[in-house]
Amino acid sequence: MAPDKLFSQACENNKQPILERIRDTFTSPGTILEIGSGTGQHAVHFASALPHIIWQPSDRPGASGHCLGWISESALANIRPPLELDVASASWPVDSVDGAFSANTAHIMAWEEVQAMFAGLAKRMSSGAPFCLYGPFSYGGKHTSDSNRQFDRHLRLQASHMGIRDMDELLKLAEQVGFRLESDHEMPANNRLLVWRKL
Ligand SMILES: C[S@@+](CC[C@H](N)C(=O)[O-])C[C@H]1O[C@@H](n2cnc3c(N)ncnc32)[C@H](O)[C@@H]1O
Repeated sequence: MAPDKLFSQACENNKQPILERIRDTFTSPGTILEIGSGTGQHAVHFASALPHIIWQPSDRPGASGHCLGWISESALANIRPPLELDVASASWPVDSVDGAFSANTAHIMAWEEVQAMFAGLAKRMSSGAPFCLYGPFSYGGKHTSDSNRQFDRHLRLQASHMGIRDMDELLKLAEQVGFRLESDHEMPANNRLLVWRKL
């Protein structure tokens, strides 16, 4: 029996605007590691539009199979089976990647996991490799909209380790592990697409 396709309306809404940005960044052939793939809708949309890329989905153990429905239906040759990857784990199932993508993960992960994600990628990426991070972010402690402020409050009430991350903190973290911010794009629904480059 084919695995169920899980559905996220947010992914349906944001996948094309994200693609329009990342296609200018993921221009060279290579393997892109996606962290926290969720339903797999992003993986299929991006791999189908970027045939020069090998898309490598991943998610935490227990969640890594959630993307299988969309991936197996797509039958795309340039999507690899999902890896079990918890960014906080000391051993990642990949030694090197040509680039990375992650959507809506930084506010779900604990801050220590966000640190582990940046550090783990920095260790596995060569100089010049890109990391595209999509989601809501705040600036100088200020939210960019009332809806983001409410969302942040909702997250923190749900679990104290979650919350919208601030750019000042991300910039400090990136500098510590060896990434620089190349661009910060405004996206629909008060989200941003951050493009980091490994130094
Ligand atoms: C809000 S969902 C986003 C899913 C998908 N990227 C999207 O945009 O719809 C957050 C994702 O982050 C993953 N995640 C949370 N903590 C993680 C960790 N420590 N390592 C890897 N993935 C993690 C979750 O399993 C989940 O798939």
